[in-house]
Amino acid sequence: MRDLRISVTDRCNFRCTYCMPKEVFGKDFPFMPREALMTFEEIDRIAGIFISLGVKKIRLTGGEPLLRRNLHELVSMLSLRDAEIAMTTNGVLLPRYAPALSAAGLDRVTVSLDAIDESTFAAITDSGHTVAAVLAGIEAAESVGLGPVKINTVVKRNSNEDEILDIIERFSSRDIAVRFIEYMDVGTTNGWSLDEVVSASEIRDIIGDFERITPENKSDVAKRYKLPNGGEVGIISSVTEPFCNDCTRARISSDGRLFTCLFSNRGLDLLSPIREGATDGYVADLIREQWNARKDRYSEERALHSTKKKEKVEMSYIGG
Ligand code: GTP
Ligand code: 5AD
Ligand code: SF4
Repeated sequence: MRDLRISVTDRCNFRCTYCMPKEVFGKDFPFMPREALMTFEEIDRIAGIFISLGVKKIRLTGGEPLLRRNLHELVSMLSLRDAEIAMTTNGVLLPRYAPALSAAGLDRVTVSLDAIDESTFAAITDSGHTVAAVLAGIEAAESVGLGPVKINTVVKRNSNEDEILDIIERFSSRDIAVRFIEYMDVGTTNGWSLDEVVSASEIRDIIGDFERITPENKSDVAKRYKLPNGGEVGIISSVTEPFCNDCTRARISSDGRLFTCLFSNRGLDLLSPIREGATDGYVADLIREQWNARKDRYSEERALHSTKKKEKVEMSYIGG
């Protein structure tokens, strides 16, 4: 266990069709009540326990993490701990919050951006936000030292394959690595089908055949390639070339449940024992036991699952 991804809210200001489709996540959707969410003190304490168990990198996710009020206060608590602090965001609130986050000790951000073309972006994100706003967020993050920024682009067939080269052209000369992500069958609301996955090998055919960069860590999810202009591009192939065997990621939902796989259906409640007065040692034992018992390799077994409907939690709940 090396990476801890903490979801700070299950809400989002986008309604990406593959993640939080409006028909499901509409006005009446029962998002988590405030009292169910971990407080910043609870998150910080849980993070400390995970760090004592070996975690080196903490990533704040959501939903959209910047919707959580005063997030910089959490960052300033976490930054006193011995771990790198990163965040995955859709970017539109970065112009407002990047300065405070950077001052609080956030190390870097990854911004999700699936299209450069405004109408394609609007069709995917379905929420009235613009590419221009995301680009302004990226600029804001860079200007306060939250770089090198990475971009995550989920590629879905008949949606944004045409965007791949434009996105590379836009960012590769600017020390911004774009990572193209195979569309995954997370959750149960997006109507995923294999036909809609643009495979890593198809993406490589579009991009061109470039020199592979040696991975820094065995658990890195992206295969990285060097572009002729010195930039780099990554491909995250969790569907066609799964990497479960090297997975070192634990996830905590915003109500304090531990998930040992993105495709789990059940999380271990850590928040209740904490609220009932459990010691750090007790919680550490719970985590260790769960982690040691873990047999998760969903992506490697995907084909076996495809015939039966598996219950899975949504990405907006568990964090990306
Ligand atoms: P850095 O190297 O610190 O930048 O982080 P990262 O490479 O882990 O990147 P990030 O957290 O942004 O992950 C990128 C994307 O990869 C996620 O948004 C997911 O779509 C996918 N991903 C990350 N972790 C997993 C995983 O454990 N399993 C699967 N199947 N996909 C994952
Ligand atoms: N498949 C692949 N990536 C996804 N993301 C959200 N849902 C999916 C999915 N079904 C991505 C978001 C964001 C990151 C947190 O995960 O676009 O970049
Ligand atoms: Fe890790 Fe589960 Fe993703 Fe495999 S499918 S890499 S075990 S989160």
